[in-house]
Amino acid sequence: MKKMKILVTGKNGQLGRELQGQCPTEFELIALSREELDISDIDAVKDVVERNHPDVIINAAAFTNVDNAEGDQDAAFLVNVKGVENLALVCKKFSIRFIHISTDYVFDGRKSSPYVVSDKVKPLSVYGATKAEAESVISKVLPDAVIVRTSWVYSIHSHNFVNTMLRLMVERDQLGVIADQVGTPTWTGTITRILFDLVRNKSSKGIYHCTDLGVASWYDFALAIYEEGKAKGLLPADKSLTIKAITTQDYPATAERPAYSVLDKSRLMNELGVDFKHWREILRHVFDIKVQQL
Ligand SMILES: NC(=O)c1ccc[n+]([C@@H]2O[C@H](COP(=O)([O-])OP(=O)(O)OC[C@H]3O[C@@H](n4cnc5c(N)ncnc54)[C@H](OP(=O)(O)O)[C@@H]3O)[C@@H](O)[C@H]2O)c1
Repeated sequence: MKKMKILVTGKNGQLGRELQGQCPTEFELIALSREELDISDIDAVKDVVERNHPDVIINAAAFTNVDNAEGDQDAAFLVNVKGVENLALVCKKFSIRFIHISTDYVFDGRKSSPYVVSDKVKPLSVYGATKAEAESVISKVLPDAVIVRTSWVYSIHSHNFVNTMLRLMVERDQLGVIADQVGTPTWTGTITRILFDLVRNKSSKGIYHCTDLGVASWYDFALAIYEEGKAKGLLPADKSLTIKAITTQDYPATAERPAYSVLDKSRLMNELGVDFKHWREILRHVFDIKVQQL
């Protein structure tokens, strides 16, 4: 039987790499880097689609530097809005299923209970605004598309909070980490597993929330990285480190971030029967993989 063909954009990003590494054999996956397919160029998007005839496109490409987006709005818009519109238009023209990744940063963080898929978006940052605009463009151009919002993404290899913390925890004796921003750390492996479930489930459409389970501040996350990192031998056992809880005001960033951005995952649980695991259990699992790869 002919395999379903999935085209993945942004192949060198955290999610792009995980999708390539975890692709089940039932699918044929074509992954393209920015050099191979710049999604902001609609002719390039058309050309790639006409040459490869994918059944599904998963857009893992994005302008993801939240702070840089504040000073480079045009560049963020070009990738996160125009690029997404290009993909949606081409998917519509060639009847291809479109799966796009969005973010918890579309919300303003004023809630104190998990955001449901129908909650009103109100981004605080340029990055969040471009991602929210892309969601709205998709809903107009291709209402049958799937939008997967996720949060606080990390993977084994790339540049992310976990790897930065592991490095700093070796280099320093003291660290200050923000304790008044709360969300859910999410491994790319979790998102990837659910993206392939969504590919299989052809009737899925609209917005889904996909993160690991539980709630954490960046400070809680850093403490867990320290404790689990030591337990798994990724940090020296005799290393002593003070991790101090600080506030957003103590560590001003260029872009404003939501104080609370936990996402309600009941739609994926109810419709697809997805079982999620707690972020700390997932962190331990990711560290086990890291240890095996040393
Ligand atoms: N990271 C997070 O914490 C987080 C949280 C919530 C949601 N998300 C969303 O999850 C998705 C995946 O994020 P990620 O962490 O995997 O991002 P990432 O590691 O920054 O990867 C993004 C990839 O997109 C590529 N790219 C940028 N502009 C492009 C263009 N014009 N055409 C084609 N490719 C382009 C980049 O190419 P280069 O390698 O050449 O730069 C990079 O490989 C994104 O939609 C992001 O908004 C991420």
